[in-house]
Amino acid sequence: MSLLFRHRLLATVTRCGPCAARASSMWSHVEMGPPDPILGVTEAFVRDTNSKKMNLGVGAYRDDSGKPYILSCVRKAESQISAKKLDKEYLPIAGLAEFTRASAALALGEDSEVVKSSRFVTVQGLSGTGSLRIGASFLQRFFQHSRAVYLPKPSWGNHTALFRDSGLEPKAYRYYDPKTCGFDAAGALDDISKIPEQSIILLHACAHNPTGVDPRPEQWKELAALVKKRKLFPFFDMAYQGFASGDINRDAWALRHFIEQGISVVIAQSFAKNMGLYGERVGAFTVVCSDPDEAKRVESQLKILIRPMYSNPPLSGARIAAMILNTPELRAEWLEEVKGMANRIISMREQLVSNLKKEGSIHNWQHITDQIGMFCFTGLKPEQVDRLTKEFSVYLTKDGRISVAGITSANVGYLAHAIYQVTK
Ligand code: LMR
Repeated sequence: MSLLFRHRLLATVTRCGPCAARASSMWSHVEMGPPDPILGVTEAFVRDTNSKKMNLGVGAYRDDSGKPYILSCVRKAESQISAKKLDKEYLPIAGLAEFTRASAALALGEDSEVVKSSRFVTVQGLSGTGSLRIGASFLQRFFQHSRAVYLPKPSWGNHTALFRDSGLEPKAYRYYDPKTCGFDAAGALDDISKIPEQSIILLHACAHNPTGVDPRPEQWKELAALVKKRKLFPFFDMAYQGFASGDINRDAWALRHFIEQGISVVIAQSFAKNMGLYGERVGAFTVVCSDPDEAKRVESQLKILIRPMYSNPPLSGARIAAMILNTPELRAEWLEEVKGMANRIISMREQLVSNLKKEGSIHNWQHITDQIGMFCFTGLKPEQVDRLTKEFSVYLTKDGRISVAGITSANVGYLAHAIYQVTK
């Protein structure tokens, strides 16, 4: 081929290549999808150049200077692990045994009869989402009674997609009362009493996301009695143990109460928030069984589900969590640090309310301090949320949820001012 001809050919290919490729593309029918309702908020925040901008979208804890917080027990566990010069071999399909055992004991309680009699199985999952997904796939394959899974209204945005994509049918029961910004106990009990028997019901173990509204213990008791009567099957999403009240046992009370009532449950745990291990993706999925033999059979099937999904889970984060949970000094330090994070959030709630009052707001903001955990469901309308973002560079999800963990002593005044401006 002459040099000139080659040049011409190349020029033609370069000019027409992309156009031709577009016309006959394999994926021309693929439409642009919307940004994620939670993680998309961070993308918009990152693009904003306003120095006063605040990201109250995603639930990620920040210290009082607005920085991501790495727990001191995590740093110590990392250096102890590094000193051991461990290998990087594959974990077993079910994950790191010293992590899964400790994770189950954390949720169920050290003295739990379930743990003592080994009638449970726990597998490691990819944080909360991945653990929920293992659970949803397991139910899709083995839950014999129904495809329906009843979610509180509202629930974490990802629940619907996650259960639907796993082949289950998400439905809803009343949970939040917009009039009181609190728990709609009567509505929840009424709706749950009408759920067909032997359906799956999703419950947030504590620090309900997105509302920050949890039933009180006596309301949990009523819910448990009804769930038992209707033979419903609870799936507990436990992403915030310790984060709600600062006390890991108090935050596990509802779950443990259900189990004490003889109700069969499954549980998804996350260590993203309570250990600050967000990107490490540390979680666990547990099935409470009737005896150790059943637990072994369930475990074998969980492994069969996991293997074609991702083979086996990641190592580093599970090692960190296991070391913290299983080393008394690190565990004691962790419990203090969890309490510290929970308390900082509680104090930000109080400061936000007092700053709103200082601004002159006459609204009743009591729900901000009544709600618990990482999130506050402010009750702001979508237009007010839009104004907060456009006029004040305060980023939050469209439903009016704010991550209280993103507020600091330095910006709580600015936030109160912005909220006052859009609500007065
Ligand atoms: C949230 O609700 O903001 C967190 O659970 C993070 C996430 O993945 O959505």
